[in-house]
Amino acid sequence: MAARFAAAGLLKRALSSAPQQQVRCMSSQTPKRKVAVLGAAGGIGQPLGLLMKLNPLVTDLSLYDIAGTPGVASDLSHINTGANVEGFAGEQELAKALKGCDLVIIPAGVPRKPGMTRDDLFNINAGIVKSLASAIAEHCPGALVNMISNPVNSTVPIAAEIFKQKGTYDPKRLFGVTTLDVVRARTFLAHKKGLNVKDVDVPVVGGHAGITILPLFSQATPKVDLSDEELEALTKRTQDGGTEVVQAKAGKGSATLSMAYAGALFAESCLKGLNGAPDIVECSYVASTVVPGLPYFSSKVRLGPNGIEEILGLGSLSDYEQKGLEGLKSELMSSIEKGVNFVNVKA
Ligand code: NAD
Ligand code: LMR
Repeated sequence: MAARFAAAGLLKRALSSAPQQQVRCMSSQTPKRKVAVLGAAGGIGQPLGLLMKLNPLVTDLSLYDIAGTPGVASDLSHINTGANVEGFAGEQELAKALKGCDLVIIPAGVPRKPGMTRDDLFNINAGIVKSLASAIAEHCPGALVNMISNPVNSTVPIAAEIFKQKGTYDPKRLFGVTTLDVVRARTFLAHKKGLNVKDVDVPVVGGHAGITILPLFSQATPKVDLSDEELEALTKRTQDGGTEVVQAKAGKGSATLSMAYAGALFAESCLKGLNGAPDIVECSYVASTVVPGLPYFSSKVRLGPNGIEEILGLGSLSDYEQKGLEGLKSELMSSIEKGVNFVNVKA
């Protein structure tokens, strides 16, 4: 996937670049792009804001949270890279934060504690996503939206239903961010097989919770031979990667730094697509017809000036993966229905 090492590259470039070089980054050929992070004072929001501030494709960085963003924005604004940074705090400033955005990234909401599933976050995060999606429909209806808030399997359908109600829905512009699953599968496979991680890629399809996360190790690059035990262990570790971090943090939240990295990779690919770069392909959870009966599904998508240019098929699956696909369908469908019903069914 094209943007795999972009964030690391961006960091290196930003640290070594003299002011003249940065002026060059902002040449007249690079379109102006305004990016908002909603939930910008949080565990993901802060490092994600940093990575977006280091990204030369970003001209304006809008940091929104219910509180704390003036400090984060002031801090980031001292970094000598091109993006102008503004902080917005509280609902009364949300419209200004969103106005003119090309891309809105949403890591707003509560994270898991040990013993919780992502679905346990639904009651709080569904309402947060609903109100943020309503504001996006009102103030920047043409923006691409990268949904990070959990449970992603439900929050993406929630945002879609809100956009439908407001008459602004474009399925090509709404993405559930599943890049962290891909990042994990690459890392775990490289470690297991002694490969150089920079050469490794693994598509991950399905959704973003437990067994709905389906890594396709049969399609890994480079091609690898895995014993049944290795395949089982790698699949399980990828599916449980989030829980591994939640347990290690022991009540202090879930993945933040690796998520910020993954979110920055995905956002950069979206910006590259918007700017017309060719062959930008990422896995993402989107409105889809790839698996009959599942209206949302994560698979490889080609990104372009309109958001999704093409949703790619699953390719050929091993028997093990086919079984995993059958096994995830009912859980994924009930998470989708839960999101749709949250918006449409009156209590
Ligand atoms: P956090 O609690 O550290 O930060 C969340 C931030 O959201 C806080 O600053 C909070 O003030 C803010 N917030 C709450 N309500 C808001 C609102 N209405 N508008 C704007 N901001 C609001 O949590 P975190 O660790 O950053 O995680 C955020 C979310 O991301 C969680 O739901 C978590 O489960 C999810 N997550 C998703 C992935 C993924 O792969 N998609 C990975 C990691 C975490
Ligand atoms: C992750 O995969 O790390 C996130 O979805 C956070 C979580 O709750 O596991």
